[in-house]
Amino acid sequence: MGFKVGLLGLGTVGAGTVQILQNPAQRHPLLKELEIHRVGVRSLDKPRPVELPASCLTTDLESIVTDPEIAIVVEVLGGLEPARTLILSAIAHGKHIVTANKAVISRFGEEIFQAAAAAGVYVLLEAAVGGGIPVIEPLKQSLCSNRIQSVMGIINGTTNYILTRMQQEGAEFDAVLDDAQQLGYAEADPTADVDGLDAADKIAILASLAYGGKIDRDAIHCEGIRQITATEISYADKLGYSIKLLGIADRLETPDSAEDTLQIRVHPTLLPKAHPLASVNDVFNAILIEGDPVGQVMFFGRGAGAGPTASAVVSDILNIAALLKVGRDGMKQSDGKPLLDPLLACE
Ligand code: HSE
Repeated sequence: MGFKVGLLGLGTVGAGTVQILQNPAQRHPLLKELEIHRVGVRSLDKPRPVELPASCLTTDLESIVTDPEIAIVVEVLGGLEPARTLILSAIAHGKHIVTANKAVISRFGEEIFQAAAAAGVYVLLEAAVGGGIPVIEPLKQSLCSNRIQSVMGIINGTTNYILTRMQQEGAEFDAVLDDAQQLGYAEADPTADVDGLDAADKIAILASLAYGGKIDRDAIHCEGIRQITATEISYADKLGYSIKLLGIADRLETPDSAEDTLQIRVHPTLLPKAHPLASVNDVFNAILIEGDPVGQVMFFGRGAGAGPTASAVVSDILNIAALLKVGRDGMKQSDGKPLLDPLLACE
């Protein structure tokens, strides 16, 4: 018996997720045990880049989170509502959650994780920051022995594309924004990207993982790139700097206090060209983490788009399915030795 997945949303990321789930060959063996049971959409009439049986689609999103057959709910609707309410309802109905929703997690992460802990379900969110770049699980797991000093990243692909073109071609912001919209990088309403709000959601999530505890998303200083001119970029370039929109979370040690101060902010930043983030161009994202004792670790890759983001979503689904399978069937390995990694146990 496999694991039934309910999908909330069939936009760019939802369709990318379906494409991977429909083509399991030569990917992880457990993918064959996943079944797209139902997909919740806002309109049944919209043309889609993926084919699904009509019986699978519904506009009744609540019916997905209450469906007793579904084990894992994948929320790729975006926006605050109805996404937050549906995630909490799914948790209350015992569903495990995979979400790409940075807006919901940055504001309501604490409420969601508390509800999940009480219900005994998993909530994974690798796709919420950095698209296809693995950074959430590495921060949570592989770097958890460290005291994190700082997290600094280019975490919005649209603005990085715009700044890169302005630097390379001497073009002005408005002209490049038009191109970015035509190429499908920037949304029709580009506010969240160009004003730094998307990056603020993402740095809030990274900071809460790096430092623990609740981060007040709405208190994050946030400045976008609308006011930057081609002349400023050109002067910066001549002086040996690139201008990048960064999300930054810093631990500031306060000598007379047991508690350090966290400073979290988003703003355009002058980076010396030798800085590891200065040469990250176009729609690429990169996140530089400094921890003790690990030192600097950098994550780089495609931070947006159907394929990269769906890569993170489906990996989260597989990780949950592996844990459920091990819970159901026990750890199995052909030579009978104990195995620590549930995903490997499913080969
Ligand atoms: N709009 C985002 C970006 C992608 O341009 O990086 C989704 O997080």
